[in-house]
Amino acid sequence: MKLSFVLFLLLTCFAHCYSFGQSVLTAIIGAVDKEVFFLQEKMTEKKVQKIQGLTFVIGKLHNRRVVLTKTGVGKVNAAMTVTILLAHFKPTEIIFTGIAGAINPKLKLGDIVIARQTVQYDFGTLTDTGLENWGMKNPINDITNPIFYPADTVLIQAAQEAVKKLSLTKIRVGKVMKTPNIIHGTVATGDMFVSSPKKVKELREKYKADAVEMEGAAVAQVCWQHATPCLVIRSLSDAADENAKKHYDTFIDVAAANSAQLVIALIDDLQQRKP
Ligand code: ADE
Repeated sequence: MKLSFVLFLLLTCFAHCYSFGQSVLTAIIGAVDKEVFFLQEKMTEKKVQKIQGLTFVIGKLHNRRVVLTKTGVGKVNAAMTVTILLAHFKPTEIIFTGIAGAINPKLKLGDIVIARQTVQYDFGTLTDTGLENWGMKNPINDITNPIFYPADTVLIQAAQEAVKKLSLTKIRVGKVMKTPNIIHGTVATGDMFVSSPKKVKELREKYKADAVEMEGAAVAQVCWQHATPCLVIRSLSDAADENAKKHYDTFIDVAAANSAQLVIALIDDLQQRKP
């Protein structure tokens, strides 16, 4: 066998081994600075990359390679950022972390919803009797998308394991300090900051939603269309009622940090699973 051929074989083998070692990359995204700040602080070996004006922080979290970015508020910003993220980084999975308004009346401020599914509550046909949702077609293959995007089952499992090891910051509710509850549920997404008990009732009745926010199902749709595993985690900053803005301002920091804590435990669990 010629020496040059042996060298070629060795080089290709090295390139493959190197790329396999580098291949696992988890993308973590939030909508606003406060939702990603805590995670950025915890990352090591950080490098910043600007792509089309967006800032991506690449580094490690609990030894796992991660890329962190913020999408901006709303479904269009979320879809734009995730599309650029997928094209440039080809992450293994995407985890959304952030805050939301409570829809399920059993939930309290600070509680966390791990989204088993997400739904865009503002897409469909509007008639005088209300909005009739329908799944839009995926332009890549012309197949109709589901109305409820299911979360990736492995990520859900990893989140379940993460919850067992987690200790969250308590939240003051009235006069008592309360440890947040964590549930698996439905997150409803739309291009509106909801501050309306009437809308809360409607989202609960129509979708059995547990929380409402402005990006999750858009991220889930882009991931669905690109066959990329996705999970949305939201901690409740407000009850989407008349006090929503006031509570949002008060609770955003602690709620965002608690959601990020869960993401870190989840990343740790994923990293333990890695062969
Ligand atoms: N994110 C946090 N609170 C929200 C609300 N009330 N409506 C929509 N998005 C939110």
